[in-house]
Amino acid sequence: MLDLISFVKEQNLLNKDKEIYSLVFQDKKYWVKKARPTMSSLSHKIYYKIFKLEIITPVEYKSAKEALKFETSKLKKFEALGINVPKIVYKDEDFFILEDTGRTIHSHIRKKDTKKEDILFFIPKAIETIAQIHNCNEYHGGAQSRNLTYKNNKVYVIDLEDSFDKNIDLKTLQYRDFLLFLLSLTKIKANVNIDYEDIINNYINLTQNYEFKEKLKSLARRISLLIKISKLNFVNKLFGQDVKSFFKLFDSLYNLKMDRK
Ligand SMILES: Nc1ncnc2c1ncn2[C@@H]1O[C@H](COP(=O)(O)OP(=O)(O)OP(=O)(O)O)[C@@H](O)[C@H]1O
Ligand SMILES: [Mg+2]
Repeated sequence: MLDLISFVKEQNLLNKDKEIYSLVFQDKKYWVKKARPTMSSLSHKIYYKIFKLEIITPVEYKSAKEALKFETSKLKKFEALGINVPKIVYKDEDFFILEDTGRTIHSHIRKKDTKKEDILFFIPKAIETIAQIHNCNEYHGGAQSRNLTYKNNKVYVIDLEDSFDKNIDLKTLQYRDFLLFLLSLTKIKANVNIDYEDIINNYINLTQNYEFKEKLKSLARRISLLIKISKLNFVNKLFGQDVKSFFKLFDSLYNLKMDRK
């Protein structure tokens, strides 16, 4: 253990410009995350004031030490709740060391040649984990597919450093989590049709957060004109894959069926 810590301290000097990096020590892989402040930019806060969109809710300012304390405490809290998180091997004021918990969900589904079976396997697994967090009356804070990992048939939750103003309620933060996850799916290059309605129904069945459906639909209504324009053949041709995927998601949101139980 002491050997690992002195090894990491040496590595920290070599990796001065890296805030997070992995290393192998005695055949085991670890991740080192250094303390750094969390904040949103001023322009981000201004956009939030203008558009009042949950998705861009600014994160609370925390000093490097506060952020490290927040993230490591939240990892402990999640562990106690039975949510899979990497074990904290060591922490001090400047950095902490985590056990490796496998590749990110994003990395398993992002490639062009990703198979449909993989999409149908990893996305529901990720949704199950996000729903588990929400059912424990918690939020992730950055539930994109790059902040969930997969190892030995289990999904793990990482990157818990972001927190928000006390006046922002839990449901808003959970809705933000879910929307961030959906948006992160538009970044994958897989040549597979993603059934967003099915994903949303799956999440809602697990959490009973029925009102999120209406919220997603009304978000899409705000850009309904753009969605219509995006469907015009000559416009669609101009878009790159990510913009096409974005409009595909929003078209699905716009057409969501409100089949309340
Ligand atoms: N315990 C772990 N096991 C496996 N991979 C990890 C682990 N911790 C971090 N990673 C990898 O490092 C990346 C960055 O870690 P993390 O998300 O905690 O840092 P961040 O700088 O806050 O990221 P972001 O870019 O999302 O703000 C992750 O996306 C993942 O690929
Ligand atoms: Mg991250």
